[in-house]
Amino acid sequence: MIIVRALEPGDNAVYQRLWLQGLTEQSSFFRSAPEDDPAANIPTRFAPDSFTLGAFFERELIGIVSLERDHRVKLRHRALIFRMFVRPSAAGGGVGKILLQELLRLAQGIAGLRYTYLTVLASNQRAIGLYSSLGFEAFAREPGAVNIDGNFVDELQMARQHTPDSGPIDKMKLRQGL
Ligand SMILES: CC(C)(COP(=O)(O)OP(=O)(O)OC[C@H]1O[C@@H](n2cnc3c(N)ncnc32)[C@H](O)[C@@H]1OP(=O)(O)O)[C@@H](O)C(=O)NCCC(=O)NCCS
Repeated sequence: MIIVRALEPGDNAVYQRLWLQGLTEQSSFFRSAPEDDPAANIPTRFAPDSFTLGAFFERELIGIVSLERDHRVKLRHRALIFRMFVRPSAAGGGVGKILLQELLRLAQGIAGLRYTYLTVLASNQRAIGLYSSLGFEAFAREPGAVNIDGNFVDELQMARQHTPDSGPIDKMKLRQGL
């Protein structure tokens, strides 16, 4: 059984190992390189609007994804999704989808959040398929955004709009057709 939960400071060592495995063994899918951040710590703040989820199988960390809400006054309605990785031996088995569904469920509970954003290499069909299946739409394509061993690969920016939670009054209005 796959268990998904928010990572805690005590998970940092296993997180570092998995993320560095992603950056080194699957480097053609990422805009970051191991040299950019050799410590590779959990990048978020263990808060409701800044967290990293981990997927565990038999107590082993096999997948990760992070969300960071923007705290600038005019940008607080936005959050970035980043550092998504599922260990290759577990990929294609639904772990990525479970992780992202849980992240979106938690994002739905962040007051005032309207959009989640992410970037993905245009060559990464599996990730694009996953994001599209959960309601993300590409709104921009940056040509030659990332240099992977001399290949300049385009990057897509994708966004998903969250339905603001309508309170009881709104729901009543809806029923009355107001
Ligand atoms: C991309 C990644 C996170 C997806 O996780 P995963 O566990 O392999 O994906 P899942 O098995 O949950 O697949 C979920 C959905 O992705 C899509 N998908 C999966 N494989 C696909 C493929 N080969 N082509 C297109 N879409 C695909 C499907 O929509 C699938 O949903 P469905 O099975 O209900 O049809 C994972 O493969 C990974 O870590 N890849 C390397 C690193 C990476 O690309 N990270 C993302 C950087 S932006």
